[in-house]
This record gives sequence, structure tokens and C-alpha cells, in this order.
Amino acid sequence: MKIGVVKEIKVHEYRVALTPAGVQELKRDGHDVIFEAGAGIGSGLDDSAYLAAGAESRTDAAAVFAEAEMIVKVKEPQPVEVAMMREGQIMFTYLHLAADEKLTKGLMASGGHCFSYETLEVNGGLPLLEPMSEVAGRLAIQAGAKFLEKPTGGTGVLLGGVPGVRPARVVVIGGGTVGINAARMAAGLGADVVILDVNLERMRYLDEILPPNCTTVFSTGLALREELKEADLLVGAVLVPGAAAPKLVREDDLVSMKAGSVIVDVAIDQGGCVETARATTHDEPIYIIDDVVHYCVANMPGAVPRTSTYALTNATLSWMRLLANKGHKQAVLESGPMAKAANVIGGKLCYGAVAEAFGMDCSAPQDLVS
Ligand SMILES: NC(=O)c1ccc[n+]([C@@H]2O[C@H](COP(=O)([O-])OP(=O)(O)OC[C@H]3O[C@@H](n4cnc5c(N)ncnc54)[C@H](O)[C@@H]3O)[C@@H](O)[C@H]2O)c1
Repeated sequence: MKIGVVKEIKVHEYRVALTPAGVQELKRDGHDVIFEAGAGIGSGLDDSAYLAAGAESRTDAAAVFAEAEMIVKVKEPQPVEVAMMREGQIMFTYLHLAADEKLTKGLMASGGHCFSYETLEVNGGLPLLEPMSEVAGRLAIQAGAKFLEKPTGGTGVLLGGVPGVRPARVVVIGGGTVGINAARMAAGLGADVVILDVNLERMRYLDEILPPNCTTVFSTGLALREELKEADLLVGAVLVPGAAAPKLVREDDLVSMKAGSVIVDVAIDQGGCVETARATTHDEPIYIIDDVVHYCVANMPGAVPRTSTYALTNATLSWMRLLANKGHKQAVLESGPMAKAANVIGGKLCYGAVAEAFGMDCSAPQDLVS
């Protein structure tokens, strides 16, 4: 199969869907890889590295779209990319269709086969979302530490303190993938960490594996309110699958927080778990309400594309190979996770939650390829 890699064109998106190591693996499976010149530059990957791995370069995305049988990307296709998709062409990327009716209709009209990273499911888990949660959780502490500094509006407290001076208090709401990664980073820097969750099994696990400067607390409104008073840095890392994030921190809670404390609401891509959170960008990541700094960047991993590209491609490559080796029909029929990843096949919608969001018809992907 001929696989095409294009440069991401969404604002401030520097990741790329395939590394030169991935090119080698696909070549070894007998496939050809073409890439848009400069596709990997944002992640520090020169064209020469792709060429050395055996890929061929094309001058623009149009040439890649025209030739490739499968396009691999990172972000959801932008309108100009949707317009270049061909009937029968496979696309594998983050799609987030339930949030975008126009994109859904555009991809259906293209007649392509669109598989999404975020709906690929293995044993109830979402392995192609997990690496980005790992990045965002770790970055939450890096960003939080930065904005706790006085010149950026913070309290002016150093996360780890110094000998003779108390460390900062970091409160993490939600001890899943984002939460555990945030807790680990904060604890490693010497902060005093509290993690709130509602899943007792998960808290038993966290209690066992996290260092002694991390404490687990069962998440109730009362417990959270107590913790807010002490927090220097609050990380929102809650997820209720298939639903908007619950608003656990209300607007009137902010007055009980320290002036200059920082909220990093990682759950902002699901609406945020803080009532006053609204999505921000890497250009203008923060705003201040009631003296509390809010950092609510919806695509946090985009700030560290070198790490994120490798983290993402480590997780996606085996599924790309499966799609390329089997073709979209056999992949859907033989692989449960790949059938879950299928959102649009031959222009027809086959992912329930997307169809439900827009009141459209939905077919089983297996029926569409049979
Ligand atoms: N902003 C970004 O760039 C970015 C990047 C990656 C992930 N995210 C988002 O971060 C959020 C967390 O993702 P994750 O991968 O860690 O999810 P996860 O499912 O691994 O963890 C969520 C945790 O929240 C807990 N939880 C549910 N209700 C709770 C409550 N009332 N109080 C406390 N804890 C509660 C769950 O028990 C679970 O442990 C998601 O919304 C995800 O989309 C954002």
C-alpha cells in the first residue's frame, strides 16, 4: 500500500504522524511511504531522515493526497484536506467527529474510509489517547510551576520548597492517566501532593505505587473544598467516559483559594472540571479570575511536539501496520479495536456516538465492508 504523511496545518500543531523509524517498519512490511516535504520539521525530524529511512518526498500535500492509498495524520483534517480526500482513500488520525458536524458530513461526502485514533478501543481502554494523557499530566506540573512564579501572576512559591521552607501543595482531581503522571512529576519535584478520586480500587493502586509525599483522598464536595484552601496548584484531571467533565470546582469556590494559586484544568477538552475554565491556546495560555491563575490549554501535548510525536507514534504504529497489511476491509472484520476505530466507511457513518450526536443513520462497520 502507498502510505502518505502530510504536514499538520492546524494552528500551532507541530506533531507528525510517522517518524523515520515508522517509515522503516512500513517499508519492511512491503509498503511505500511518501511524505510532504517538511512534514516532520516541527518535531525536529528533517526530510533527510525520512529519505534515509526509504520514504519519498513530495512538494505539497495535494501530491500526497493524490497518490496515497492511506493518509496518516495527527489532528482532524482541516477543510482544505477534506477537499483533497478521494473516494476509497483511507485516513487514520484523531477525528473527534462528535464535536464537528461539518467535518463529519465532509468526510462522508468524500467517500473515504476514516479511522480515528480516539475511538480505537482495547479491553475498554483507549490506547491511542493514553500517551497524550501521559504527556498532558506531566506537562501540567511543568506549566503549573511556571505560572506559580510571581512575574506570571502566581503566588511566588517554588514547588519543592528548599531546606527549611515548606514545599507547595499540589491537589490533583482525578487519579487516572493524567492524574498519576501529574502526581509523579509533582512528587518528584518535592511538592506535597494530594490526589482525589472516586474509584477506591484506583486509589489503592495509587497509594501502593506513589511515593510517600502523595496522599489519596476520596473525592466528595466537602473534601475538595477543604483541599482547595490549601492548594497552590490545582490540576483538573477528571474524566467521566462519554460525558462532559463534571464541574467539581464552582465559581464561588475561588474566593477560598490562595491569591496567586494556579489551576491547570487538563479536562478542558471535555468542557473542564472547573466552572470558570474556558479553553485557552499556547499563545495566550492563562487568564486570572478572583486572583486565581487559570491555565486551560485544550491541546497541551502540542507544546512539546518532539516528545508527543514519539509518544503518539509508539502507540499508533502497530495499528497503522495492521491497516496497511490487511487493508481496511479485513482490518475491520478481523480486529475488534479497528472496527471501533472506524467512523466512516465508504462515506457511511459507522460510529454510534457520532450518529447520535447529529441524528444521523449509523451502520455496523462490518456490514459496510462485507
Ligand atoms: N488538555 C489536553 O491537552 C488533554 C490531553 C490529554 C487528556 N486530556 C483530558 O484529561 C482528562 C483526564 O484524562 P485521563 O486520560 O486521565 O482519564 P482517565 O479515565 O484515565 O482518568 C479519569 C479519572 O477521573 C476519576 N474521576 C471521575 N469522577 C471523579 C470525581 N468526581 N472526582 C475525582 N475523580 C473522578 C476517575 O475515577 C478516573 O480515575 C480527560 O478529559 C482527557 O480528555 C486533556
